[in-house]
Amino acid sequence: MCSIIGYYGDSAAAPILVKGLKRMEYRGYDSVGVATKSDNDIVVKKGVGKVEVVNNALHLDNLPGHVGIGHTRWATHGNVTDVNAHPHPSSSGKIAIVHNGIIENYEELKSDLEKRGYSFKSQTDSEVIANLLQYNYDQTHDVKQSMIKTVSKLKGHYAFVAMFESGILSAARFHEPLIIGIGKKGFFLSSDVLGFIEKTDDAIYLDNGELVILDRIGVQIFDFEGNAVKHQVTKVSKEFADAYKGDYAHFTIKEISEQPETIIQAGEKSSDAINTATEFIRHARSIYITGSGTSYNAALVAKYLWQKYAKIKVEPIISSELSFTPETIEPNSILIAISQSGESADVLEAVKIAKKANAKILSIVNILTSSLAQESAVVIGMGCGPEIGVAATKSFTAQLSIIYKIAKKLCDGCINMDGEKISSSVAKVLADHSKIKEIAKELKDVQDIYILGRAVHYPIATESALKLKELSYIHAEGIPGGELKHGPLALMDSSVYVVIINPNDFTYNDTLTSAREIKARGAKIIGISDKPSDIYDHWIQIPTIDDSLYPLIEIIPIQLLSYYSAIEKNTDPDYPRNLAKSVTVK
Ligand code: F6R
Repeated sequence: MCSIIGYYGDSAAAPILVKGLKRMEYRGYDSVGVATKSDNDIVVKKGVGKVEVVNNALHLDNLPGHVGIGHTRWATHGNVTDVNAHPHPSSSGKIAIVHNGIIENYEELKSDLEKRGYSFKSQTDSEVIANLLQYNYDQTHDVKQSMIKTVSKLKGHYAFVAMFESGILSAARFHEPLIIGIGKKGFFLSSDVLGFIEKTDDAIYLDNGELVILDRIGVQIFDFEGNAVKHQVTKVSKEFADAYKGDYAHFTIKEISEQPETIIQAGEKSSDAINTATEFIRHARSIYITGSGTSYNAALVAKYLWQKYAKIKVEPIISSELSFTPETIEPNSILIAISQSGESADVLEAVKIAKKANAKILSIVNILTSSLAQESAVVIGMGCGPEIGVAATKSFTAQLSIIYKIAKKLCDGCINMDGEKISSSVAKVLADHSKIKEIAKELKDVQDIYILGRAVHYPIATESALKLKELSYIHAEGIPGGELKHGPLALMDSSVYVVIINPNDFTYNDTLTSAREIKARGAKIIGISDKPSDIYDHWIQIPTIDDSLYPLIEIIPIQLLSYYSAIEKNTDPDYPRNLAKSVTVK
């Protein structure tokens, strides 16, 4: 999603802003822009494309001045065009803003401002903030008052930074992330600590409904009524500074390769929270578990595991669906929300709905300073470090690992979570990529891939399909094995590839029968199993492990296959088209 950055200090602003935007590229975007305050004016440069490409063409990092704002835009209102890119100046050009989020009442505000003589150039909802702020500033001639008046009129959710002609920066946060970086030579405003981590690890996390003014006095924070607010400075975890690719070609392959460690580390620093969550789950009348995309697939795994091993029933809910069926949530129940970012708007909305029914919120989240963590009674940290690749990889197995740790407690130790064994099994799959690279070459021109799995392997099949879609842009579908003959068999012919998730457990024989039925229709079979079979055109071997633990291992070869298919197709595995890492709009 959009990333915003601001700088106020002694150094040249533009290079700092461009670097910060580059560090936040993983969040997803389609255009980029920077505005700085030069001697007399606000100067704006912006364009469609990657930061590096636009910077090479327009020299964003050459803009003059010591104060500035920058933005990468992920289009919601209006096409991907230079004009719609941020920053947006007000019609007089005396204020410029960058915005992340959605202004729901922008049409109404826009027509009102047009009647008052303010003009608009873009199709965005964001430009209304620039002109509304300009209008309020024209009335009050006061930065703080104009900000208070502006936020009182905005409906929706937003974080925005405004640069005034005087060189003052001001920003507001309402249900979108905004963090202040406190440097030795200046202050930063950013959607993500990665925006300023190279310069400082001292940060203030603004709460919803707060605004900040950066000027010669320093940092002043207020609530939306104008009352001064005090905040502690937090030391940002040094792990964020490690968000470099190192020797790896892409973040995605780096993050896939980290899994022998991250699976073991998952939840390690949250053992008290895991204990508390387990007790809540044990005694709850109704338990729901929610997430979006990959995190929802992890929720499905929880349903199978907790039911099988602990006889505990939990209802998985796709977060974006809950607002259409809010009556699902019984009063005084538990909602477990899973989210890597902790900022997915759909997940936050589901939490809001559950809270209305007095549900207790437990969360499994990677970013401990996120909105979801703030909304939760119990927070279990995934602890897998920053995940920069847009496609979730190590965060998925960290989520699974925590779900397993809870399952183990719920069934009084009946699952053998041997950390060393799991880690070495994952490392074995990762040791040799050659076979997977060969298969990826074959998949290059394939149109359709189906992935079959039964019981707990079905959510792994849906997660596999999601990875293949995102990374290789090949149409992929996860199917519960038994459903094959109820429809999908009609699609099987020699142009199709089918991945069979078939570890040697209680699902093995039935899944192999499905593979035979598919093979008889001419489709190619990729078998992921610890047991060879001549049915497989390609066998990807996984190590034999305790029956309950296969899901932690069988997803790894598909992550690799998706990654290498992207490489074969010459697409960027770290930043798949049209996707964003943190989906902060509904
Ligand atoms: C898939 C993927 C997305 C996210 C989804 C939820 O690879 O990355 O499907 O899983 O947008 O994101 P979080 O977990 O941050 O709520």
